[in-house]
Amino acid sequence: MILVTGGAGFIGANFILEWFSRNNEPVVNFDKLTYAGNLQNLASLQSDVRHVFVQGDICDSQKLKQLLDDYQPRAIIHFAAESHVDRSIHGPDDFIQTNIVGTFRLLEAARHYWNKRIGKEHYDFRFLHVSTDEVYGSLPPDVPAFTEEHVYSPNSPYSASKASSDHLVRAYHHTYGFPTLTTNCSNNYGPFQFPEKLIPLMIVNALTGKPLPIYGDGQQIRDWLYVKDHCIAISRVLEAGVPGKTYNVGGWNEKPNIEIVSLICDLLNEFCPGDYHQLITYVTDRPGHDRRYAIDARKIERELAWKPLETFETGIRKTVQWYLEHKDWIANVQSGEYRKWIAMHYQ
Ligand code: NAD
Ligand code: TYD
Repeated sequence: MILVTGGAGFIGANFILEWFSRNNEPVVNFDKLTYAGNLQNLASLQSDVRHVFVQGDICDSQKLKQLLDDYQPRAIIHFAAESHVDRSIHGPDDFIQTNIVGTFRLLEAARHYWNKRIGKEHYDFRFLHVSTDEVYGSLPPDVPAFTEEHVYSPNSPYSASKASSDHLVRAYHHTYGFPTLTTNCSNNYGPFQFPEKLIPLMIVNALTGKPLPIYGDGQQIRDWLYVKDHCIAISRVLEAGVPGKTYNVGGWNEKPNIEIVSLICDLLNEFCPGDYHQLITYVTDRPGHDRRYAIDARKIERELAWKPLETFETGIRKTVQWYLEHKDWIANVQSGEYRKWIAMHYQ
């Protein structure tokens, strides 16, 4: 079996669902269930014996050791993290703890476990670390997209904590020969994304007639990838990636935020007619806001024959439809904690 950390979150849950759509290999899903972890994302697996859920914190070395001894995974896919830039600005502590200390504890537990395995089980073991393009920092306009060789220059507590975890993963390969793989992906969107991130927040707010808050001038550029394409890329890297290597994953979809929000308004108008554009509201910019991210995904295309299946236009249409068809899911994640965040952040 494989071990997935953070499998109750947005990308982890999509990964597990995608994995079982092509594969019967069991998954043990280790997740702390923070505000961002939601087992409802995996409700369709409720009586599926291929999925085992264990609640726990990646900072807990004892629990990690027990988990590895109990389930003997052949690989670890490490998604668990604090993932929201705005939250990292308001309160960086959890980011340092989970993303840096947690990744370190997981690496240590995994390294000891790997050392005890012999023969093929030792040689075939893999540790795949899921990271972000934000570690490379902000790209000026008209400069080529981030390659795997781009210098690290993280600007937010979130991206600094992810960069730190990437360095630890790299060092574990360099020092111990530990068989790591790292993926640095651009912004994901799709089903089950918590409505604190740009795309689901805009859909959810528009549906309830709330303002659509655009930070600064709305001209910041992100490179968007449909989540299922990211999940397929991770499976491909696990299967054929070379230990110690890094693979950038992206959809060649650079778009300014205002264009994304405008497109969401048009799509919503198509499905549930209404003037959503009038809800667009420019608000104070995020401190230290990165202007542009862009991923050069040629290495994974060339070496592992991966390419995204969705264009932005097909992916965003599916996403808007998914949120329209899952109003119960939206209502359930809008707990007291979520309301507190929205009230505090958008005050
Ligand atoms: P998410 O916030 O939706 O989910 C994170 C999951 O990790 C949650 O289920 C949470 O309960 C769990 N978790 C948090 N702290 C934990 C801990 N200490 N121990 C165990 N579990 C813990 O995040 P996401 O958007 O699904 O991102 C997953 C990974 O992908 C992250 O590492 C993130 O940095 C990376 N990534 C995200 C994006 C994106 O656009 N969302 C893009 C590139 C890379
Ligand atoms: P986000 O989804 O938080 O992802 P990231 O910061 O990791 O790229 O934000 C995407 C872009 O949208 C980013 O430039 C910030 C902007 N944004 C807004 O303009 N308004 C919002 O309410 C949010 C949440 C984000």
